[in-house]
Amino acid sequence: MTSGLRGIQGRLLGAWLVGAAALASPGVAQAAAGPATNDAAMLSLAKASGCLACHAMHHKKVGPAYAAIAARYAGNAKALTILENAILDGHVGTWGVIPMPAYGGSQQILMPDQARQLAQWIMGMRGRA
Ligand code: HEC
Repeated sequence: MTSGLRGIQGRLLGAWLVGAAALASPGVAQAAAGPATNDAAMLSLAKASGCLACHAMHHKKVGPAYAAIAARYAGNAKALTILENAILDGHVGTWGVIPMPAYGGSQQILMPDQARQLAQWIMGMRGRA
């Protein structure tokens, strides 16, 4: 009985390890390969850029939840450009009186293609609220 249980536990652990490896590897491979458009790479970029000090996926912090941004601009053909520009130039007034800091231009924290990728990532939060 005990050994049978151990066998089951061993198989479960094995299956879990295979699953975890399968989940982890595509992100790692893509992050190394080039344009970082997958969730894991975008999450690290957002973390490294300090975005998550003010934003969360599903609830308001200093700034609006990313899911709320995605919902607001859903169906707006200019959504990606609007969000990209907000990230690069900073923004205030759409969500309240607290300004979103600029990351592009003379700040040079993010390049336009990175801002675009973050905008795409945020728009992908739609329906995940
Ligand atoms: C100091 C806090 C702060 C940081 C850091 C911050 N944001 Fe914001 N963000 C805000 C606030 C506040 C708003 C709402 C601005 C407004 O009302 O127009 C906002 C708005 C936004 C919007 C929506 C703009 C719009 O036009 O509706 C996006 C997209 C966004 N932030 C992405 C990011 C990303 C990506 C980062 C990191 C690169 C980031 N933010 C970092 C506070 C912040």
